[in-house]
Amino acid sequence: MQQLDIHTAVDRIREDQSHNQPLAEDRQGEALNLTDAQKAASVNGKNFYIESYGCQMNFSDSEIVASILLESGFGLTKNYEEADLILLNTCSIREKAEQRVRNRLNTFNKLKQNRPGTLVGILGCMAERLKSKLLDEEQIVDIVVGPDAYRTLPDLVADAGDGQKAVNVLLSREETYSDINPVRLDANGVTSFISIMRGCDNMCSFCVVPFTRGRERSRNAFSIVAEAQELFDRGYREVTLLGQNVDSYKWKHPETDETVTFAQLLSMVAAVNPLLRVRFSTSHPKDMLDDVLHAMAEHENVCNYIHLPVQSGSSRILKKMNRTYDREWYEGRVNAIRRIIPDCAISSDIITGFCSESDEDHAETMSLMRWVRYDMSYMFAYSERPGTLAARRYEDDVPEKVKKARLQEVIALQNEHALARNQQFVGKVCTVLVEKPSKRSDEDLCGRNDQNKMVIFPKENYQIGQYVDVLIESCSSATLKGKARGLAEIG
Ligand code: 5AD
Ligand code: SF4
Repeated sequence: MQQLDIHTAVDRIREDQSHNQPLAEDRQGEALNLTDAQKAASVNGKNFYIESYGCQMNFSDSEIVASILLESGFGLTKNYEEADLILLNTCSIREKAEQRVRNRLNTFNKLKQNRPGTLVGILGCMAERLKSKLLDEEQIVDIVVGPDAYRTLPDLVADAGDGQKAVNVLLSREETYSDINPVRLDANGVTSFISIMRGCDNMCSFCVVPFTRGRERSRNAFSIVAEAQELFDRGYREVTLLGQNVDSYKWKHPETDETVTFAQLLSMVAAVNPLLRVRFSTSHPKDMLDDVLHAMAEHENVCNYIHLPVQSGSSRILKKMNRTYDREWYEGRVNAIRRIIPDCAISSDIITGFCSESDEDHAETMSLMRWVRYDMSYMFAYSERPGTLAARRYEDDVPEKVKKARLQEVIALQNEHALARNQQFVGKVCTVLVEKPSKRSDEDLCGRNDQNKMVIFPKENYQIGQYVDVLIESCSSATLKGKARGLAEIG
């Protein structure tokens, strides 16, 4: 198999765009942004409302769903009380996430009593996990659609109603929605997500995702670059490439058999424009090799931040989790990051109280955290998920109280580290891409630095979408605060 040369690839992207070949043509169709979408009056007299839960991938999928429905004549509303179709794009990762959706359905139950014609659809992971069982358990639900079946949504809506239910939970080995130009919901006009792959083949024993999102498949590299280019042309200045395991991205050109790896894709997207920042998530420690780190180091506009979930610091638990790496390997990867990109921020996901986790195993997680000193972590108590390897093979034997107590210890330690990491920026100048007004005050703006730290500073005459150099004067564990020094020079 041939490796695709980046320069050839980038030239080919430009060629595609200038010659209006099919891919570029698709992308140049009516690009809808939120304002367009809001203006897009319904053609068929029906409006939909959509709400998303869970990971960023779900939010990104909701933008695909919105595009499909707008294209087929629906209008979009931000007020569920005036919607003919209410959609919840759901998450199954922990039991609490599913409970939240079920509680939300109660709100819509009341609404449906007043407006009996309103249809309620469940999309995403809960739809895929529970399939038509969801229709029995939640009477209010009319439509159930899994993550690979969104193209059939308009037909399913047409079939449902008057007590008729519609379900499509077929998973696909090919679907990547690569030809769909997503509308940007809740857009700030500066930062956006681009989905580069779907599904996951990893089978971590605690995780329901391989069952709800199906087999891993990578999206056409040229369609990804074209989406990044189009966002840039519309004024966006940052894209985050999304996948469950971006390091295993591999796209094979159907005609030439050439392949594009994730490291190459990063270079291709970075080449769109030096003013376009590139981020990505999530990296898997087993697949994150030095080629990706070198690509990051090589391109100024690929941000120095890696989300590298460890899950546990104990090799025994990692084996039971089926993570396919041990502590030593993980430490080796962190050493490689520190060597190749010395100022790279690193964040993690950590689970406490996985099956059979002892005090010693927990102590190993704490010691690993002390060694890495993560900039940020998402931390969870283990929640057994039906059908997963762990649910079938292992006993969920760590008492809830112990899981929670360990979680509190992990959170307290992480807060210490986050504060210490942020303190390193005090007295330094960071380049910030301005995203929006600060939540606390209209007089302040906020945006992220290279390492993904949120920076707040007085707005003066600076504008959203600009790169601003900010001198950091103080910090908390969550944010940096400072004062603008002037517009940054990029490129
Ligand atoms: N219980 C607790 N946390 C989980 N995660 C995934 N499955 C579970 C579970 N069953 C966490 C992992 C993963 C993140 C997205 O969610 O840390 O990296
Ligand atoms: Fe779940 Fe593991 Fe896949 Fe992440 S890599 S989605 S934790 S199975």
